[in-house]
Amino acid sequence: MRIDIITVLPELLESPLNHSIIKRAQLKGHVDIYIHNLRDYSTNKHKNVDDYAFGGDAGMVMMIEPIDRAISALKQQRDYDEIIYTSPDGIKYNQQEANKLATYNNIIILCGHYKGIDQRIRDHIITKEISIGDYVLTGGELAAAIIVDSVVRLLPGAISDETSALTDSFQDNLLAPPVYTRPANYKGLKVPDVLLSGNFKEIDKWKEEQSLQRTKKLRPDLLNE
Ligand code: ADE
Repeated sequence: MRIDIITVLPELLESPLNHSIIKRAQLKGHVDIYIHNLRDYSTNKHKNVDDYAFGGDAGMVMMIEPIDRAISALKQQRDYDEIIYTSPDGIKYNQQEANKLATYNNIIILCGHYKGIDQRIRDHIITKEISIGDYVLTGGELAAAIIVDSVVRLLPGAISDETSALTDSFQDNLLAPPVYTRPANYKGLKVPDVLLSGNFKEIDKWKEEQSLQRTKKLRPDLLNE
């Protein structure tokens, strides 16, 4: 998979995407992530990518030209399955959406900033708008990092334990069961006996029950989806 991210703040994305599983997935060739500085596509000498809003509204708006130039340059080289804009107005991101994105070959993520982007970009260039939740961030970079992280860990081979991405919370609309490690008894706080029993049929049954109970208690909305 190839992911191109277009941003005015490349530094904000470098660290989150260069550690642990996401870094290893890149080194192992499961994903290529390219971060493009939008200012490199500016046509003026100050490298501006925003301008005042028509109609007298407060706040700066990201201009169409640098964005069109950046995305056109990428589209000339390959086809993209989706051109995503991170915005609080978008569809609410969830595990199903991550699963779908993980099946694609090439995606672009455009990170929003300032007051927003010229509507013509949204109408004619962007194919999907994604929000990571009903709150407003200062920019779309952290949203992009969240999307990339959640997608890359699903790519075959990205996680060493092949099954573990499938047993995550939210796969099958259920929260994951609780997990424990040594010691089995910490100051009287004990690990459930069944997990120490060695009876894997019973353990699987317990995990399923725990998943269902936790989902009913903590996220009943998931059971109605
Ligand atoms: N940019 C600002 N807020 C955002 C959000 N909630 N989701 C995605 N991008 C954003």
